[in-house]
Amino acid sequence: MNKYKVVMTGGLMVPALERIQKECAVKQWEKVDPIPREILFDWLKDAEGLIVTGNIRVDEELLQHAPKLKVIVQAAVGYDNIDIEACTRHGILFGNTPGVLVDATADLAFSLLLCSARRIHEGWDFVRAGSWRPGYNMSFGIDLAGKTLGIVGMGQIGAAVAKRARAFGMNVIYYNRNRRIDDEKIGATYETFDVLLGKADCVIVLTPLSKETRGLFGREQFSRMKPTAYFINVSRGPVVDTDALLDALKTGKIAYGALDVTDPEPLPGDHPLLKLSNILVTPHIGSATTETRTAMAQLAADNLLAGLAGRPLPACVNINKGK
Ligand code: GLV
Repeated sequence: MNKYKVVMTGGLMVPALERIQKECAVKQWEKVDPIPREILFDWLKDAEGLIVTGNIRVDEELLQHAPKLKVIVQAAVGYDNIDIEACTRHGILFGNTPGVLVDATADLAFSLLLCSARRIHEGWDFVRAGSWRPGYNMSFGIDLAGKTLGIVGMGQIGAAVAKRARAFGMNVIYYNRNRRIDDEKIGATYETFDVLLGKADCVIVLTPLSKETRGLFGREQFSRMKPTAYFINVSRGPVVDTDALLDALKTGKIAYGALDVTDPEPLPGDHPLLKLSNILVTPHIGSATTETRTAMAQLAADNLLAGLAGRPLPACVNINKGK
């Protein structure tokens, strides 16, 4: 049988990759640095499918080099690196992987809050450095029970974080572009963005990156927050103005930051944010569990194989029919 021609700009968990390889001739970029655009353009000349990674920009220029492309998939829920309108103009389907990463990402968001509140990472550094002595301990954290958590971006992951926060005795408020009608079901109360900033003891950001949310958190927003506030970002780095966050953490406009995503990303090892004592940074691991990454890869494979065969994609962001 003639195999579909597919380009991959990075890795994918093995069970899904093997399924794809049965039906597709795959050209895979295996180096750590992103595939150079010229090489990608050359590979795309006869490709029918593209499995893309978040470090690649899919735009009009790229699509012009891909005349046979029917379907693009990404093993992620976010797709801010993809020009969806351009894909639609070219009649190309784009599939993402919502749903399957909800619990893993909510766990990570809540872990960042717990670790910061209880200084778990600082405690581990303290013990490992041999500083633990009888009667001498590190600075105290804060209780979460009774505090107000403000969730910015109330989709499926936001609702899963709200559930965790309620189980820890927190009061939960949220802001979302569209107010949800099921506040009671998710155990969270809607507030306007400004009111949330002023009321929340802890803020968790989960909103997708878009024209509207780029730079949503800047100097003005940090100055409206409580000086005791904890700020957690698990969405995309550019939703936050990094210089403004650095200033807010340095000058005590807020108390603590925890980031799973940064701008730039990766954050260079000598970045000034990393010199602060009131911050915790993880390397974009929101969905990084074996089970979740496997499920994401399988859904990406389902999307790809459906698109190549002219069937509707199980999770399609734009038009859902074959070319
Ligand atoms: C991860 O960042 C994702 O968008 O799935």
